Amino acid sequence: APATLYGLQVSQEPFGLVVCRRRGGRVLLNTTVAPLFFTDQFLQISTSLPSHFISGLGEHLTPLFLDTAWTRVTLWNRDMAPAPHVNLYGSHPFYLVMEDDGSAHGVFLLNSNAMDVLLQPSPALTWRTTGGILDFYIFLGPDPKSVVRQYLDVVGFPFMPPYWGLGFHLCRWGYSSTDITRQVVANMTAARFPLDVQWNDLDYADAKRDFTFNKKSFKDYPEMVRDFHSRGLRYIMIVDAGISSSGPPGTYKPYDEGLKRGVFIRNATGQPLIGKVWPGPTAFPDFTNPETHEWWHDMVKDFHEQVPFDGMWLDMNEPSNFVEGSQDGCPNNNLEHPPYVPGVFGGRLQAGTICASSQQYLSSHYNLHSLALLRVRGKRPFIISRSTFAGHGRYAGHWTGDVGSDWQQLYYSIPEVLLFNLFGVPLVGADICGFLGDTDEELCVRWTQLGAFYPFMRNHNDHGTRVTARSPFAFSPPAQAAMRNALRLRYSLLPFLYTLFHRAHSAGQTVARPLFLEFPTDPNTWAVDRQLLWGGGLLVTPVLEAGQTKVSGYFPAGTWYSLTGVGAPALLWHLVPIPASHQPPGAVCGKGQWILLPAPLDTINVHVRAGHILPLQEPAFSTAQSRGKGMALVVALTLDGFARGELFWDDGESWETFERGDYTELLFLASNVSTGSCWQGLGRAPGGPGTSVSVLRVPVSLPMWEQFVISWS
Ligand code: NOJ
Repeated sequence: APATLYGLQVSQEPFGLVVCRRRGGRVLLNTTVAPLFFTDQFLQISTSLPSHFISGLGEHLTPLFLDTAWTRVTLWNRDMAPAPHVNLYGSHPFYLVMEDDGSAHGVFLLNSNAMDVLLQPSPALTWRTTGGILDFYIFLGPDPKSVVRQYLDVVGFPFMPPYWGLGFHLCRWGYSSTDITRQVVANMTAARFPLDVQWNDLDYADAKRDFTFNKKSFKDYPEMVRDFHSRGLRYIMIVDAGISSSGPPGTYKPYDEGLKRGVFIRNATGQPLIGKVWPGPTAFPDFTNPETHEWWHDMVKDFHEQVPFDGMWLDMNEPSNFVEGSQDGCPNNNLEHPPYVPGVFGGRLQAGTICASSQQYLSSHYNLHSLALLRVRGKRPFIISRSTFAGHGRYAGHWTGDVGSDWQQLYYSIPEVLLFNLFGVPLVGADICGFLGDTDEELCVRWTQLGAFYPFMRNHNDHGTRVTARSPFAFSPPAQAAMRNALRLRYSLLPFLYTLFHRAHSAGQTVARPLFLEFPTDPNTWAVDRQLLWGGGLLVTPVLEAGQTKVSGYFPAGTWYSLTGVGAPALLWHLVPIPASHQPPGAVCGKGQWILLPAPLDTINVHVRAGHILPLQEPAFSTAQSRGKGMALVVALTLDGFARGELFWDDGESWETFERGDYTELLFLASNVSTGSCWQGLGRAPGGPGTSVSVLRVPVSLPMWEQFVISWS
């Protein structure tokens, strides 16, 4: 490179690399602090860190910033109900460090072997991996948003979800028939809740086998899905990674075909390795084999011809296994028992999964375990997967697995959603109201309010929980009203959310954003993980504790307008600024502050940042309906009378509309100058970037805070 942001020194004795910022000379990486180990099955390299503020290294149940006081972070994908200090479903060997002056850098180790990352108080970090090579990428930022973008330049920008995928999703393990599933949808309609996507868990499948359905309880399954479609709803069902292997030959095509085509992971004798998942004995497809993609595609297509589902929910793909290794155990070799075993839950690599030494097309499972690989053809896909690896966001989204129904998990869902945005997987959310155990009404209301601001919003829960006690319509009238408000608020904001996804897809931005990304030079924002931003313009301050009707939130410098208004129904047509007495003085003097906000049970605090224009649409009971309704802008002027915003709009589901130029993009600029006020939209019409420009000019008077209804055809 002709000019670099970094300087590099190679030290011979002790051996190591030192990377520093060219400007200011801050050392970002110094691997001379400890010896390098480079042996088979044990690679270790350490570096000093320029600060304690390190984020990333998912997937774990952690705050947004990690604890550097001797913390071991283990990466090895594992089916595990989220709990602190254990390896969970995904592996993202990427970290971001905030430096003292608000600069940031990132490091990605492209390595899929089981590993520990050890955080030390000096501060320092040690990578200790059990295989592969040391393939590092260092991102110089210098601001944290650029670090994320640079990382995504390497692993891929997120896929663009269909518009309907941003609506409300309802699921439960235990909708045990089409009658019950239909009833749930009918109840949602009767209770006037928006719903875009109805889901089924394993209940639909015949003996829990993929690509089958129960011909008794789900006998009218295809008709049910078609009925949903005729009402503008979409439908998604679960698909597990394990393929049932115990039926007599000729009775189950996915296994018979898979055997014939050699798509399964093999054991030491070259036979398909057999473990145990929901259907009983199962084989595991080897997605590193190109033939497996063809087989998988054929199975998906066959099933889709029977049941016209709209998206797929990929579960148990760590892969999860209810017996350790395989039904026959695992060989005793150095892949099963490496000289160093990272701190994996269960103490052995094979715990909760298949044998590490099983054979795949590309290599041993030992090297490939944490990789999740997907390919889907057709329209814009909507795929949610439990297991993830760096780069996952190019293909699919993620839900955070089997979270407990408690307040602590409600809180942890915020850092988890924010971290997955840093990992390039913006389409992420936790099971609203919690998955495991019984929820209660207050928790479920608060979770629905926060869930309205997960990029992926799904209410899902376990089969053991009280049957009706999760769906929004199951609660008392005041609780229902609060949930309805939250949902209407989300639906109103969908054009804004969709535009953020476009920015993620086209420019590597985050959708749900930690405050420090937007305000890196204000260190008070760094550790904030009980609030989240949507883009740069909307701040969400949820209640995360039982029995609270007030909530404290950090408001960085600037002016913030309340979108919901305390006590007012959470509808956009009741907009009020935070009273002047509550405004952070930072609006003038440049400092942020903590503010205690009223938050009765019917309220989630949402604030628009001065300088932003948000595109909105009148909410309805599904995106199919709301997309036909009127649109509006909220314009939040800065003190000197300026705001900007944008809207990306297309048909919501065609493949690669952006890449083909089949979209409209509007840039809104509002200014309030002494010669008269105006706001304008600069547009690109469908037909390709720059093909035509439309300019809207609408005179406005002088309020700080204005709302317009826009109409277009
Ligand atoms: C585990 C998944 O995490 C959960 O969401 C699902 O309900 C069960 N498997 C049953 O399929």
